[in-house]
Order: sequence, then structure tokens, then C-alpha cells
Amino acid sequence: MAQPPLRWGATDARPRGNRRRRGTPAALCPLLAQLFPELAPSSGLIESTLLPLPKLQDRLGIPGRVLLKADHALPVAGSVKARGGFHEVLCHAEQLALHNGLLRDTGDDYRKLARAEARALFARHSLGVASTGNLGLSIGMIGAALGFDTQVHMSSDAKAWKKQRLRDRGVRVVEYDGDYSAAVAAGRAATLADPAGYFVDDENSPRLFHGYAVAALRLRQQLHDAGIPVDAEHPLLVYIPCGVGGAPGGICFGLRQLFGAAVHCFFAEPVEAPSVLLGLLDPTVPAVSEIGLDCRTEADGLAVGRASEWVCERVGSQVSGVYTVTDDSLFRDLYRLHQAEGIDIEPSAAAGIQGPARLIGSVDGLRQHADLARRMDKATHLIWSTGGQLVPESEYRNFLEIGKIASKET
Ligand SMILES: Cc1ncc(COP(=O)(O)O)c(C=O)c1O
Repeated sequence: MAQPPLRWGATDARPRGNRRRRGTPAALCPLLAQLFPELAPSSGLIESTLLPLPKLQDRLGIPGRVLLKADHALPVAGSVKARGGFHEVLCHAEQLALHNGLLRDTGDDYRKLARAEARALFARHSLGVASTGNLGLSIGMIGAALGFDTQVHMSSDAKAWKKQRLRDRGVRVVEYDGDYSAAVAAGRAATLADPAGYFVDDENSPRLFHGYAVAALRLRQQLHDAGIPVDAEHPLLVYIPCGVGGAPGGICFGLRQLFGAAVHCFFAEPVEAPSVLLGLLDPTVPAVSEIGLDCRTEADGLAVGRASEWVCERVGSQVSGVYTVTDDSLFRDLYRLHQAEGIDIEPSAAAGIQGPARLIGSVDGLRQHADLARRMDKATHLIWSTGGQLVPESEYRNFLEIGKIASKET
């Protein structure tokens, strides 16, 4: 089995040259490096590495090449939600600063956004988001770092440690008994009741979507640096955990722009919360409760009862497939990844691991893609691990215990 040489680093994907353009990392990296000292090694760029998974690939018996896009270790917020969340909050901060004369123009030095005048301006503006956890962590981290009055509205699925981490950074956490959609409705109403409030709307946000899509540009560079071809002869098959649809949708959109029909994106959802699967099948985008599912899953990031209609409309025709996973299989795969490769992720982030075997084992799926089936030995399977770095050690040990038991049972 052909294996890529080593690992392709986050810093390799750093933008080249010094030209500053609006919203590009070149303009924002110095600001981010100042706000978050842990970004010093990458000069402020937030990016993850691309890793080979040779042992897991052997264990699963997958032909071709199997890689991991390691967003579970994205610096600062530890999940894929940092991509969209940081982008949206930085867009908002930029707009406020331009409007209030704190930035001269989009060619200005964005480190001005960390100065006392900017912090004082942002402190007079509230920022709200509803989240099952990781989007809240992302908005909370960047919002608090810039000085916004930040509120995170969290559904009952959100883990206690995520709430605590936000409170430790001065973010206001509002808890709800209901599910994610209830938290979104309440959070949106509470934030917009403030005339200076800005709500990050996970169900309906082009800014989040475009932030996720940037991952495609970085991935293209990493694949290029590693000498891995992507074309009709060498398809790229990408497996991404999916909640409301924004993160996988944005990534899929970006990849299709760059690689066209040579890339195939598959979304992975919990069996009890297949919200995007439903949303792609039915243009009215029903809630999973309407087909008798209760949305209960240990994959807190994916515990979403209704998909983003906005995302379903935009990427519906570009998604190659959706599959569902049980909680037991998520824990089993999390354990397998730890055992085989020493990589630690959270349950939601493990949903992509089954992708290659599910595709290869899907007679119907491969019949629909006969060309793809013939090229499996030249294919690159990319499992997107979307979160986990910030999970406390004791919590992770529990995940492993459950995964070990689930492995024995299968
Ligand atoms: C770890 C993890 N993976 C995947 C997702 C899915 O992202 P989206 O809800 O945008 O589909 C989330 C969402 O919070 C998440 O936390």
C-alpha cells in the first residue's frame, strides 16, 4: 500500500508573500498571534496538519491511501468550528472598526483591533451564539479575546467542561433544558433584543460557511506539498462529521470549487440525528422528531434536530452521500484510532472513521459511482477529525473505556 512520507504541517500552509487583502490570513495572522500566544509557531495561522493513518488503514483493510485532516487539534478552540466562528467574528469586528474609524481601510494594520480603543468599542457590543458546544467555544474564545460582551446559549446536550471553560474566560453561558433548536431560537431573540447585539446564526450564516470553505485551499496546498494527486484517475474521498451542516457544507463547497468531480464528500451523522440527510431528501427540511427520532447521542456536536436550510440548498447537489453511525460505533472507532495511531479525538469527531469501509462495502453506492469503484486502489480517503484536543483527560479516559467495551462486542 503506497503511503505518504510523513506529516504535512500547519505551518507549511502559511500564506506566501506579504500582500494584504481583506479577510486573508496575511492581514489577520499578526492580530491572531497577538491575541493568542499559542499561535506563535504558526505566526498566527490557525491550521491543522494532514496525517497518514498507516496502522488504522491496515486494520481496516482499505486500499489506496487513508489520511486524517487533524482539525481535532486546531489551535485555540480545538475543533473545526474555529474555522467558521473565527471568520465570522473577525468580519464583524472589522466592520465595526471601519465604521467607527478605528481601522483606516482594509489595508490597515489589523493589530489595531487589539488596542484599548477597539476593546472599549467591542465591549459596548454584545455577541451571541447558540451551540451544542464547539461553536460556542470558538465564538467564546475569539469574542472574549477581542473584548466583546459575549453570550453563549447552550442546549442540554452541551458538556459541563465546555461551559466551564467558557465561564473561565469571562463568557456568559446561558443554559436551556431543550434541544439545540430551542437554544438557537432563545439565543437569537435574547441577542437581537439588544440594538447593539450581533447573533452568530449557525443555521443561516454565509460568514461561517465561507470560513469553513477556506479549509479547502489549505488542504489543496498540503496535498500538493505531499505529492498526492487529485484528479479523475486519483479521486479524493472525504468523510466529514455533520451537525447542522455548516462545517461539512462549507468544506464540501470549497473542495468542489477546487477539485470539481474528482472530489466526493460524504457527511456522517448519528442515527438518532440525521438532520442533513433529511434536509437533502426533503426540501421542507423537516426536524428529525417528525420521523420519530429523539436526537439523543453522545456526539454532542452532531446532536442537531433540524439542518440548516441555507446549507442544504447550497450544497445539496454537491454532496456524494450521507451515512449514519451509532454511538457504539463512534466510541469503538475513537478507541481504534487511539490504539492504532495514538490520536485522541471526541466522539462527534469519530464519525468520519467509518467512511472508507462504508463506501467500499456499499454495493449500491459503488454501483452509482462505477468509475469510482474502478479507481479505489488509486483513491485518497480523507477522514476529517473535527474536535477533541480540549477534552479533559478524565473525560477522555471514560470515552476510551466505553470504546474498549464496544470493540469487544463487535
Ligand atoms: C466536533 C464537531 N464535528 C462536527 C460538527 C458539525 O458541524 P456543523 O454543525 O456545522 O455541521 C460539530 C458541530 O458543532 C462539532 O462540534
